[in-house]
Amino acid sequence: MRQVILTKPKNLEFREVPSPSTGDLKDNQLLLNIKRIGICGSEIHSYHGLHPATFYPVVQGHEYSAQVVAVGKNVKIAQPGDFVTARPQLVCGECNPCKRGQYNVCEHLRVQAFQADGAAQDYFVIDEDRVVKLPEGISLDYGAMVEPAAVGAHSTSRAGDLAGKNVVVTGAGAIGNLVAQFAIARGAKKVLITDISDIRLDIAKQCGIENTLNVAKTPLKEGVREIFGDGGFQVGFEVAGIESSVRSLMECIEKGSTIVIVAVFAKDPALSMFYLGEHELTITGSMMYRHEDFETAVDMISKGKINLEPFISNRFSFEDYDKAYKYIDENRATAMKVIINLDK
Ligand SMILES: NC(=O)c1ccc[n+]([C@@H]2O[C@H](COP(=O)([O-])OP(=O)(O)OC[C@H]3O[C@@H](n4cnc5c(N)ncnc54)[C@H](O)[C@@H]3O)[C@@H](O)[C@H]2O)c1
Ligand SMILES: [Zn+2]
Ligand SMILES: [Zn+2]
Repeated sequence: MRQVILTKPKNLEFREVPSPSTGDLKDNQLLLNIKRIGICGSEIHSYHGLHPATFYPVVQGHEYSAQVVAVGKNVKIAQPGDFVTARPQLVCGECNPCKRGQYNVCEHLRVQAFQADGAAQDYFVIDEDRVVKLPEGISLDYGAMVEPAAVGAHSTSRAGDLAGKNVVVTGAGAIGNLVAQFAIARGAKKVLITDISDIRLDIAKQCGIENTLNVAKTPLKEGVREIFGDGGFQVGFEVAGIESSVRSLMECIEKGSTIVIVAVFAKDPALSMFYLGEHELTITGSMMYRHEDFETAVDMISKGKINLEPFISNRFSFEDYDKAYKYIDENRATAMKVIINLDK
């Protein structure tokens, strides 16, 4: 079978390797034929050698949809012919967070495509407990976007009940956009999304996020007053990873409110602990997702509550994996999601 492996930064190698055999499947495993792979921002960082937790050489690909080829004798989730997606998290099951059910922050977490091999190949074996079945008729491209959508599902579950609350999301990349769409789907009253790129804000509008603000042109404080009036906002999601962005969120949010940090900050921001205490803010983290977030994401996407179509910037064949990376590099401002089609 075909495989693409990142042997070291900027070096993708195409290899022909033996396919996993059905005879080697454990009772709880599925053999998948990978159909579509989404490329994500973190993999681009690995490609450039800028992801500190990537173990080279590594097979990339952790956002994918696939068709089931064979199943072990105890597998119930899907049968040969079904379409599925799966979580890329390998966890120990024994540490305290795992025992508490918080396996997304397992002490020994390994994520496929970063610390373990991913799915950028024709066939892939996976344990049943990480698989979610895709409903009939859902596009395979969308199936490959369940993983980033699950980040939106999880982070919006970290702020309690959003119903009736006003929400600000800073950063309208793929993740911020999905966070905002999930906040709307979870019943937030009004959602405002910010960015410094009109292109990103335009895509947000195409996805149905009506209230957008370019903070390079208008300060957050003004935008908040305009959109929410005296109502203010009660939940913030920081998805830009920029100091000025999280600072302005803290300064503008209503007292006693919650901010969820979704972004990975390349540089630690300096924040006022005095302000945090005085305003009794809750600042909370959000790490990937758990299985139920994957299920929620599949459900919301299949019901059309999450709009993914405006995200897809381009599609490439498996042979053009390296061209996809070049495309993303050359189109940083516009490229949201690029899909590798293994059937092409
Ligand atoms: N917590 C998790 O589990 C998790 C999972 C996936 C990704 N992430 C992180 O989420 C972040 C967003 O991911 P992405 O793929 O959407 O990245 P992205 O780079 O595409 O999006 C970031 C956006 O922030 C915008 N931005 C820059 N400065 C800004 C400012 N001052 N105010 C508002 N917006 C500003 C950029 O223009 C860009 O559109 C990244 O840091 C990523 O590492 C976290
Ligand atoms: Zn990803
Ligand atoms: Zn663990």
